[in-house]
Amino acid sequence: MSSTSADEILTRLTAMRAHDVPTHGGRTLAYVYDSGLAEADALGREVLALCGSTNGLDPTAFPSLLTMEQELVATAGRLLDAPSGFAGVATSGGTESVLLAVLAARDARPDVAAPRMVLPTTAHAAFHKAAHYFRVEPVLVDVDPETKRADPVAMAAAIDDSTVLVVASAPSYAHGVIDPVTAIAAAARDAGVRCHVDACIGGWVLPFLREDEPDQEPWTFAVDGVTSISVDLHKYGYTPKGISLLLHRSADLRRSHFFASAGWPGYTMLNTTMQSTKSGGPLAAAWAVVRHIGMDGYRALARRARQATIAVAAAVSDIPALALAARPDATLLAITTDETCDVFTIADELLARGWYAQPQLAYGDLPATLHLSISAATAPSVPALVADLQAATDAAALSGPVAPSEDLVAAASSVDPAHLDDATVAGLLAVAGMTGSGGSLALPERMAPLNALLDALPAELREALLLAVLDRLTRPRPIGAH
Ligand SMILES: Cc1ncc(COP(=O)(O)O)c(C=O)c1O
Repeated sequence: MSSTSADEILTRLTAMRAHDVPTHGGRTLAYVYDSGLAEADALGREVLALCGSTNGLDPTAFPSLLTMEQELVATAGRLLDAPSGFAGVATSGGTESVLLAVLAARDARPDVAAPRMVLPTTAHAAFHKAAHYFRVEPVLVDVDPETKRADPVAMAAAIDDSTVLVVASAPSYAHGVIDPVTAIAAAARDAGVRCHVDACIGGWVLPFLREDEPDQEPWTFAVDGVTSISVDLHKYGYTPKGISLLLHRSADLRRSHFFASAGWPGYTMLNTTMQSTKSGGPLAAAWAVVRHIGMDGYRALARRARQATIAVAAAVSDIPALALAARPDATLLAITTDETCDVFTIADELLARGWYAQPQLAYGDLPATLHLSISAATAPSVPALVADLQAATDAAALSGPVAPSEDLVAAASSVDPAHLDDATVAGLLAVAGMTGSGGSLALPERMAPLNALLDALPAELREALLLAVLDRLTRPRPIGAH
């Protein structure tokens, strides 16, 4: 490969990025979070670049990173009502924070041979990843079918001698509701078990809304029995990606996810988190953005996003074919439809109108929904969003609910998820019309038929099929090939 000029590379990068969903502008309603504050964004980008080559592996070599982490954790501690003696770490994201909370709970209980954790079915999939990585059995407890909140009585009943962790969300990603943390944490405390509150998505919004909404369900360290809380800065902290915080009620509780190895002839590896070498860029950018926006700034942003959420929720209730899956407690919405249309087609129709909303498949008795994470930057566009949601719903009703072909459902259903070979995947992709030139994978323009197919399949089969697609999607390609 010959060398390429910086100009040429940036031109190509810009061309490639034109196919990505926009990160700014408030029209991408999942994956990205936009404050709408240009100066904060510019500062975050500048600091990210400035500190991108620093290494959090050794806090004595890069004391600036240690100071920034300590200051950010202290700021989060104040927001989350942490008691004196609390401790925390900065991680690469919500999933890493969750992984560490589960690991710490497991490793603090070497006496438990087959550890288990009690989760509401709405807990984030990151807990399933932790269960898989660390061999902690997830005990899933159904949520209230109406409110979509965890059922504390059923969760208490699910705790046994092997339980090392109990989990609640503030709020849940899928439905945007806060679980009854007080009762769940009390049950965990009474059983002598840790209780983690996953506030990855809501932890930097909900504290700023408490003044306006004093009856918000309590979920912070002020609740007796809560032992750890995760909160992501790269979500509603509106900082560049790659930064979350995990706080523990005491330094003792944190200790069991630390790692040391002096068992080789190189440097003694000492890590507080999963990563060893870690860029200081995301941490420094978050430190800068959090200080720049400030607590009053975040209060204003949280109010803006919350008011926009309430306005969109009201509009959804006014569209006869739509309903809210749950009353939103924060800035997330989950929308369902009646029998005249489906959420997958509405997602496609919204995309055609310049909005990215995220389809969520049905799970158990919980119906398929359309997920909207509302950012502060979406607020000025609420009238446009509501008009386009109405138009997308009308278009979806006109075409009628999408139904996957019976042949395809039959072909997919006959697959054994444990033994999905390449030839079977190739056959299924051909039946689904997803084969491009030379047998390569070609994603369809409209995703609704594919989502409807997945929706009709059990979760295990969805996972196996999507992993096979991901495997094909991520194979190497010659540089510059389109
Ligand atoms: C409640 C909750 N927990 C965990 C995560 C995982 O976070 P990440 O995608 O940063 O790994 C998310 C992401 O949306 C979330 O909403």
